[in-house]
Amino acid sequence: MEEDVHAILELKRRRKAVILAHNYQSPEIFHGVADIVGDSLALAREAQKVDADIILMAGVHFMAETAKLMNPEKMVLIPDAEAGCSLAESILPEDVARLRQRYPGRPVVTYVNTSAAVKAMSDICCTSGNAKKVVESLGVSEVIMLPDEFLALNVAKETHVKILTWKGHCEVHERFSPEDIAALRRQYPGVTVLTHPECPPDVVEAGDFSGSTAVMADYVRENKPARVALITECSMSDNIAQASPETDFVKPCNLCPHMKRITLKNIRRSLEELQEEVIIKPEYFVSARQAVERMLAVK
Ligand code: 13P
Ligand code: SF4
Repeated sequence: MEEDVHAILELKRRRKAVILAHNYQSPEIFHGVADIVGDSLALAREAQKVDADIILMAGVHFMAETAKLMNPEKMVLIPDAEAGCSLAESILPEDVARLRQRYPGRPVVTYVNTSAAVKAMSDICCTSGNAKKVVESLGVSEVIMLPDEFLALNVAKETHVKILTWKGHCEVHERFSPEDIAALRRQYPGVTVLTHPECPPDVVEAGDFSGSTAVMADYVRENKPARVALITECSMSDNIAQASPETDFVKPCNLCPHMKRITLKNIRRSLEELQEEVIIKPEYFVSARQAVERMLAVK
C-alpha cells in the first residue's frame, strides 16, 4: 500500500495531475492520495477551478464526466470505466424525451448521478446538497425531477413545488429501512442518526437529520454528537472519524460496489498509462455542460 501511495504522489508531480475523490472512497485514497475531497456538489465546483494538466476522478463515471464537462481542454481519467451507478443506469435519454412529451412545459431537473447524454436532455442539474434550492430557483409550480425517486420525494416534503418523479433508486441507500433505525436506537440509546436523502422517505423520517455527504460531515464536526450513525455508504464514517475523535461512529452501513472499484492499484496504473480517458460525445457536450453550469450558478 505504501509503495503505491509513494508512486501515485510521484506520478501526480510528474504528470501535473490532481486527484478528486468522493467522500465514499476508501480511507487510503481519501487520506493518502486525494488533493480534493467532497460531495458531488463540491467535486463539480472544484472541477471548475483545477489548475493541472490531468484530473483523475476517484469516484464513479458520472463524476468523471462532470469534471470533463467543466474542463474540456484537460485530460480527465477514471481508473475503472466500469465504476457506474444504479441511478445513472436507471434512465436513458429516450426516457427523458418521453417524460417531456407526457408533461409538456415542465422543466427537467436532473440529479448529477446521470450520464452526460441524459444531462444534455435536461434544463438544469442538481445534487442532494442543493436540490431544493435548484427546484425553487426555477420559479415554476411543477417540475420533473429524475432519476432518483426517493431524493425527489424527500425534496417534495420540503417545498411547495410539485415534483414529478422517475423510478430510479440508489442500490446502497434503498436497502436501509425504518426498522434498521429503530433497532439502532434500541441498541444505542441517544444515538444521533443522520440519513442521506437518497434513502427512502420513511428512513429519512426515522432519522434526526438528513443531508448530502458533505452536510453530514459538517454536522458531525459542528455538533460533536457523542455517538452517531451515518445511514449511508461505509467509507463515510471511516473518512470523517479522524476529524471527530470525540464522536463514536456506529456503522450500519452498505458498501457501494461501484465506488469500491477504485483502488490505489488502479489509480497508479491509470496515471502511468493515462487510461481510461473520459470522452464525451460532441453532440451532448454543450447542452450537458449548460445543465451543470446552470446548477452551479444557483446560489
Ligand atoms: P453526495 O456526496 O453528493 O451526497 O452524493 C452521494 C452519492 O451517492 C454519490 O454517488
Ligand atoms: Fe450510485 Fe448509490 Fe453508489 Fe452513489 S452510492 S454511486 S448513488 S449506487
